[in-house]
Amino acid sequence: MTLHPYFEKAAAILAENDRGSYTVPTKGLYPFQWNWDSCLTALGQAAIDESRALTEIETLFDHQWSDGMVPHIVFHVMDDGYFPGPDVWDTARILGLSTPTSGITQPPVAGFALARLMERSADADALADRARALVVKINRWHDWFLRARDPRGEGLVAILHPWESGRDNSIDWDEAFDRVPTDGIAPYTRRDTQHADPAHRPTKAQYDRYLWLVERFRSLNWDNTKLHDASPFQMVDPGFNAILLRSCADLADLADRLGMTQIAAANRDRAAKGIAAMESLWSERHGQYLCRDRVSGELVDSASVGGLLAGFAPVPEGRAAALAARIDKLSRGVRYLVPSHDPADPRFDARRYWRGPVWLIVNYMIADGLARAGQAEAARRIREASLDLIDAGGFAEYYDPLDGTPCGGGSFTWTAAMVIEFLREE
Ligand code: SER
Repeated sequence: MTLHPYFEKAAAILAENDRGSYTVPTKGLYPFQWNWDSCLTALGQAAIDESRALTEIETLFDHQWSDGMVPHIVFHVMDDGYFPGPDVWDTARILGLSTPTSGITQPPVAGFALARLMERSADADALADRARALVVKINRWHDWFLRARDPRGEGLVAILHPWESGRDNSIDWDEAFDRVPTDGIAPYTRRDTQHADPAHRPTKAQYDRYLWLVERFRSLNWDNTKLHDASPFQMVDPGFNAILLRSCADLADLADRLGMTQIAAANRDRAAKGIAAMESLWSERHGQYLCRDRVSGELVDSASVGGLLAGFAPVPEGRAAALAARIDKLSRGVRYLVPSHDPADPRFDARRYWRGPVWLIVNYMIADGLARAGQAEAARRIREASLDLIDAGGFAEYYDPLDGTPCGGGSFTWTAAMVIEFLREE
């Protein structure tokens, strides 16, 4: 059997960015281990080496905090090429960690990824003990979310920093970010703009606020019993919640198969409660889900891809059908699906990180959810657009949805992993 040339190229990128027990997203721009990058990367790695794929997730969970949180970056090695590095977060000193990490989390896609790896595994029995150990840790992370990020038991969790969503500079955060001050932050030099085109990256005004939040949380010694209420930024993001809820549902199924019935029941309950609560984020006017600003209590008038990513969770079929219709409508304004923001919105910016560009990981999760909900045609179009983007721009971090121009970093790990996934589905 001859391999698809994109498979070979993707495998070469995974190998190039492999640091032994974890994979960097790309050389230069992101020289450490990132949380959701690793979990999604493991899916691609599994097509080559299942054991190595599991190691990717295990390494991440080796750095789970004692309160259950799994940090968004693990600083395995020192590298001055990234800002903000370990000294800014200062978690090693404050918490006594042997390897420094960031102090915030990221979309909890580990439950989904592990369940998918095990479901497809050619030798699931051989991996079962390792999977059981991970199920316990992922369940602890899910528990942490309920305690630390849903303190009033609403069924949905809040992010406290835009970096937690993964969609750093989404238009979703603009209004709430006006409340985040910038006074008193330490002077700093950005490194990202030395590796990538500054026009493709967040602005200085956004970085000032990212840093203010980090400094605020650090001043509270990263104590997650305090951070939620102390944060001026508390956002209930449908995309983030959908990832958590899908992971809860899939972890429940996996736990059942592994004979871990209590963990299965707890995660099934969480998923059911959360899916019901997601209804409060639906916007009839936009035909999609929206964020809710937990500080103001208002829905955020921003039709971003976060509200489409909601379809990754087992939402009601009628909602999935509406999301497919919304994506069809968006397709008339762009050449490549799925733009991270509605191109008809004057705030849309085709090349600036999460204010317009297409990201293959998001495409993958939306397509997966829609396919499960019976929206096969929408899923097919998203997959096709994703591979067309590789034709247009290579294995980039993200792409201009109007013309396919590659943006951000190159030779990008999770893009490679998603290509392997899309090829498998073809
Ligand atoms: N995405 C962020 C960055 O660009 C951090 O996770 O550095």
